[in-house]
Amino acid sequence: GADVEADISKIEPGQLIRVVWRSKPVWIARRTPELIESLSKIDDLLKDPNSEEDQQPEFARNPYRSLKEEYLVLVGICTHLGCSPQHLKDGAFEEYVEGVPEGFHCPCHGSKFDMAGRVFNNVPAPLNLVVPPYMYVDDNTILIG
Ligand code: FES
Repeated sequence: GADVEADISKIEPGQLIRVVWRSKPVWIARRTPELIESLSKIDDLLKDPNSEEDQQPEFARNPYRSLKEEYLVLVGICTHLGCSPQHLKDGAFEEYVEGVPEGFHCPCHGSKFDMAGRVFNNVPAPLNLVVPPYMYVDDNTILIG
């Protein structure tokens, strides 16, 4: 069917895997405890920190935008004009946002998103990255769709 099962048992903290769901790229990232803690501290830098403007699952309306804080699931398509943002980590994202070591940068027109897919201020993308519908089949398996 159109739904996709992803095995998350081998994703290390700080790692991101990619799957395809309905011809769209979907990212699954495992966030470190430090990263999780940092997400609630950068509201001032974000257009819509609590995801009030997006159409998305109800569980995404918080700083983590996920069912479990540790795992982020996002459609990897920029909400500006549909390019594919790059995942930058180990400090590489600080080139774009000071003090934020990891995030997503869109090479097309420079939109920036944090590790919950929330869009930063002063970029062309209007909305946070989309959280697809998904559920946990068990602790190691996510069903997207
Ligand atoms: Fe990503 Fe324009 S398509 S910034």
